[in-house]
Amino acid sequence: MLVSGAGSNLQALLDAGDQPGFSAAVVAVGADRPGIPALDRSASAGIPSFVVPVADFDDRAAWDRALTDAVSAYRPDLVVLAGFMKIVGTEFLRCFPAQVVNTHPALLPAFPGAHPVRDTLAYGAKVSGVTVHLVDAGVDTGPVIAQATVDVRPGDTEQALHERIKRVERALLVDTVDRMVRLGYSVNGREVVLG
Ligand code: GRF
Repeated sequence: MLVSGAGSNLQALLDAGDQPGFSAAVVAVGADRPGIPALDRSASAGIPSFVVPVADFDDRAAWDRALTDAVSAYRPDLVVLAGFMKIVGTEFLRCFPAQVVNTHPALLPAFPGAHPVRDTLAYGAKVSGVTVHLVDAGVDTGPVIAQATVDVRPGDTEQALHERIKRVERALLVDTVDRMVRLGYSVNGREVVLG
């Protein structure tokens, strides 16, 4: 998994891994910055981790190659981006074709980008939610695997709405990763078919 922050989605997958019948296991956690709570969570769970900061490299392509090398060392079946605040590059996507999964706190294609919850409220939308999707070369543009809705409430703040979305997001991510690993999946154009 790749993370940049709190790591509550990571924690949800770690907790699910302790349940009998859950089909996926987190093999490693990568971050683009040190000192984040998500890395404490992986350490507590005894999961290996690595940090690949963009600032350590001459350019984005060199960073992308280093990230690709660090992740491929663990030979993952899936690479889950959960609150990872960097765009992975062409080398990374070439190395993991149709294997990179992102979770986004909005109903794509509405409100892509770095501030989807803020943008949802600014637009005045009444329904939001979460999208789990495959990652392609665009920003939040890859084929949708699963979505769930969350109602926007009158007077919602960004923090309150995001917290309610995150509760739904953790459950959807855990369920989706489990089904992808347990059932397999195929991609036909924009359609992702599980099983
Ligand atoms: C999630 O809502 C994710 O979709 C968004 O940032 C949040 C990260 O949460 N991009 P966490 O670090 O998993 O707690």
